[in-house]
Amino acid sequence: MGEGIGDYTKNVIDLRRHMWMAGVEVELRRLIWQIAVVGKYISAKIHEANRKLAGLKNIYGEEQLSLDRSSDEILKNQLQFSGFVREYASEEQEAIVKIGTGREKYIVTADPLDGSSLVETNLAIGTIIGIHKEAVFDTGKNTMVAALYITYGPLITMVYSAGCGTHEFVLNREGEYVLAQENIRLKENGSIFSPGGLRNEWIPEHLRFIEQLEKDGYKLRYSGGFVPDINQVLIKKGGLFTYPALRKSPQGKLRLLFELQPMAFIMEQAGGQATDGRTDILSLKVESLDQRSPIYIGSSAEVQMVKQFLK
Ligand code: F6P
Repeated sequence: MGEGIGDYTKNVIDLRRHMWMAGVEVELRRLIWQIAVVGKYISAKIHEANRKLAGLKNIYGEEQLSLDRSSDEILKNQLQFSGFVREYASEEQEAIVKIGTGREKYIVTADPLDGSSLVETNLAIGTIIGIHKEAVFDTGKNTMVAALYITYGPLITMVYSAGCGTHEFVLNREGEYVLAQENIRLKENGSIFSPGGLRNEWIPEHLRFIEQLEKDGYKLRYSGGFVPDINQVLIKKGGLFTYPALRKSPQGKLRLLFELQPMAFIMEQAGGQATDGRTDILSLKVESLDQRSPIYIGSSAEVQMVKQFLK
């Protein structure tokens, strides 16, 4: 076996050891670990759904919830008994759910299975998590202590930040999350762009910005899954993802609390930036659970450039 990601046998640092060495506070690292474990259960559910697609029977013979609902159930149940979480806010729930005694340290936000409609296409999908110490109706800057996402693709990978850099782990064949890249750092600029929304719905300033990227030779890379699309910018160490304001929906499509804040936290910790075009994503105040915002996220040169276009 060669060096790098494939080499699980030598000098392996697993997730728990990494968080301990990085000095992540004990309750936070236990919580992150438990959420990472949920990723294994969710990936089993995805596998089960794929069996059905392939015409195979549900091995449990039971009526299945939709994949996003069952991912939500699994996550909520796990967090309920973790002892570290007082409230759970999920894209799948209408309101914040109190799941602890009220004395626990953390509030967890979740998009349990983002992009689940892509399952049948066999593209990658993901889970997005934000961890907050304070009530979530504030800015991410004031409330967030950590974020992570899990990508279910040809490999299952997990990227987390607890405020000391951004790190990537791969789930190996033994079921352990092993360190793939520590302290991922984005370059000043990249060479890919990932633009959401229909072109004829874009506002003129955004269109001009995208045309500039095209002129500059940026390659189009958009899968329609927020997690893999963000992950490729991070792992390629540069470039830009955007889901902009549209004529019919000036707030864009993606949700501030469940999708944008966690990704902004992770990107900033990797030296990148995230803005709605004017204001940093982590400086936007969350007013409601389903609040949306336009987003430009990735390496700093592209994010600074779009601010000039949208001025
Ligand atoms: O929010 C769900 C989601 O599927 C994201 O994962 C993705 O970035 C976006 O919607 C894709 O939207 P569209 O189908 O408009 O490109």
